[in-house]
Amino acid sequence: MARLFHIVEAQQFDRELLGEIFAVAQEMEQVVQHYGSNILNRRVMATLFYEPSTRTRLSFESAMRRLGGEVITTESAQEFSSVAKGETLEDTIRIVSGYADLIVLRHNESGASRRASEVSPVPIINAGDGPGQHPTQALLDLYTINREIGRLDNLAIAMVGDLANGRTVRSLCYLLAKYKDIKVYFVAPPVVRMGDDIKAYLKRHKINFEESDNLHQVATQVDVIYQTRIQRERFGDRPADYEQARGKYIIDRSVLDCMRAHTIIMHPLPRVDEIKREEVDTDPRAAYFRQAHNGLYVRMALLKMILAR
Ligand code: CP
Repeated sequence: MARLFHIVEAQQFDRELLGEIFAVAQEMEQVVQHYGSNILNRRVMATLFYEPSTRTRLSFESAMRRLGGEVITTESAQEFSSVAKGETLEDTIRIVSGYADLIVLRHNESGASRRASEVSPVPIINAGDGPGQHPTQALLDLYTINREIGRLDNLAIAMVGDLANGRTVRSLCYLLAKYKDIKVYFVAPPVVRMGDDIKAYLKRHKINFEESDNLHQVATQVDVIYQTRIQRERFGDRPADYEQARGKYIIDRSVLDCMRAHTIIMHPLPRVDEIKREEVDTDPRAAYFRQAHNGLYVRMALLKMILAR
């Protein structure tokens, strides 16, 4: 089994390692069905969250407990940890690494997990660093695509919504670039288009992509529609830009009607108004709750691969 230590960015994975993670995640589905395991008995995970979270923090904490490990946690770390007294991230990591065998870090600044990994003697897992990356989300996204569609090569995927601020779509692009015959459609309001760095990366890795403003037309051509929220919290002093971006691309009955029978709708969640709940949630192609549940198995797999001896 490949050795994993820090997880800071999606580019660090190769296909072989991704295949191993997904195989272990599948085993974890059985472990959960059989009420967990004790494989991480006495190991301690710290979750250090400087930004709000429901899925990532709780699925990591559930994953650790289901493997028999212990959890120490600081949510709202800006307010409730000694950061509020002026402590640097680096000092915080040096201290917490003395209390835990692994640190799961969510931070508001892009690159924070990289900085943390440079001073940490224990593994750092990037649980989202501002508008930078969210690599474990991208892993669970790929796992979901594989489970739902049955393959990872030869895929067409539409990424929709706030692509400028969306760390999940950025990480997903990096992972998709490992596979063959991928076509990516970017469907975003002009003020939140996908960044040039990701487009350059896709070009370098010979991934075919195009930008479109026609969600209905794109919906007829893809295997996956990956919807995202317009992230109000990232607009700062640009409320007019937020108003321009919000509500432009909504998944509703009319989009469902354009989709093929096997096409799935994904969303990293939380969602606001970009999916018409009453029209879409009961459609079997709405995969976003199954996607969120898969996060537990993928995070159990990562913890096992990093910490189990
Ligand atoms: N998808 C995701 O990162 O959700 P949370 O912000 O709730 O962790």
